Amino acid sequence: MAVAVDSAKYLLDEILPVLKRIEEAFALVGIYYAGSVTVRVLWKVTKGVRVHFWSKLWKKDLVGKYGRWAVVTGSTDGIGKGYAKELAKNGMNIVLVSRSLGKLEKVAEEIAAEFGVETDVVQADFSLGRHVYDNIARHLKDKEIGILVNNVGTLITPRLFDKLTDDDIWTYVNVNVASVPAMTKLVLPGMLERKKGAIINISSGVAHFSLPYLQMYAATKSFVSSFTRAIDAEYYSSGITVQCIEPAGVSTNMNAFDERIHRPGFFTATPDRFATSAVATLGYSSCTSGYWTHGLQLSFLQLFPEWFIVMSFRYMVEFSQKKLK
Ligand SMILES: NC(=O)c1ccc[n+]([C@@H]2O[C@H](COP(=O)([O-])OP(=O)(O)OC[C@H]3O[C@@H](n4cnc5c(N)ncnc54)[C@H](OP(=O)(O)O)[C@@H]3O)[C@@H](O)[C@H]2O)c1
Repeated sequence: MAVAVDSAKYLLDEILPVLKRIEEAFALVGIYYAGSVTVRVLWKVTKGVRVHFWSKLWKKDLVGKYGRWAVVTGSTDGIGKGYAKELAKNGMNIVLVSRSLGKLEKVAEEIAAEFGVETDVVQADFSLGRHVYDNIARHLKDKEIGILVNNVGTLITPRLFDKLTDDDIWTYVNVNVASVPAMTKLVLPGMLERKKGAIINISSGVAHFSLPYLQMYAATKSFVSSFTRAIDAEYYSSGITVQCIEPAGVSTNMNAFDERIHRPGFFTATPDRFATSAVATLGYSSCTSGYWTHGLQLSFLQLFPEWFIVMSFRYMVEFSQKKLK
């Protein structure tokens, strides 16, 4: 009996200090984790306030800083039209590049009348691929292009990959992917020569996720974000600003198929409000959602592992498709 008590006492004397050390180690890990989360949250909040609120307090001289003309692709509707109007409001002349000539002329007249700036229009269907750029280049040749907004984009309503046609696939590649480097290639030499200019690429918040049923759209947007980050790093000290915009929901024709995303509200901005907010962030962030509530949404989603977002999106689409049947 006495021997058993002695060995239990011996074990406790040996084990308790070890347990105490383990407890201290866990406490240190906890303190480190809580500290790093707090620092990250504070950093994000400070950055968010600077990009989305502080940036709006100062009037910008876009013409002086970047150049006289802005080119906006996909500018007859939605976010592109919003950008064209906002840049014109800041005194920039605008080259509108889009698909439908009638709409182009109407928007150009509207902008010239409202803001008293010069406009030019280029009809181009980006889905046709490489040969549309010669004509665009001719229109840009004698202009001091200060800002390029690579906005044009297309989205085919969610469907299984095998339900996309070959044309759908090439449209995605030509419009959402190829247009971004091809347009950049047209304006970059002039900007490098003048040592000033800005290239703004409109990606999407979905660039961070591999989305089932929107597989091509999300993948093309990942390209836009990745390409933009690389170009930003390459031309960091050239005087050129490169910015990636990753919005969440903006109420445009693109998402008119789903009333829940389309209806303007706290999270879904109207194109004009979105553009005003996004243009203000130029020079304040190389990659931003462009709109403060979108920033909140994306930060929240990034708390979850990607598999969770992917599976939730899959169930959401399947649920809505069942309801439609
Ligand atoms: N809306 C959103 O919630 C949202 C969210 C994240 C990212 N984005 C991105 O924002 C960008 C603009 O989207 P949006 O919602 O403003 O789209 P939108 O309202 O559908 O407008 C698209 C614009 O692009 C033009 N366009 C479409 N296909 C074209 C083609 N093949 N060639 C030339 N022009 C073409 C359209 O011209 P027509 O008038 O002739 O069709 C229109 O001016 C896209 O890159 C999109 O991926 C949108």
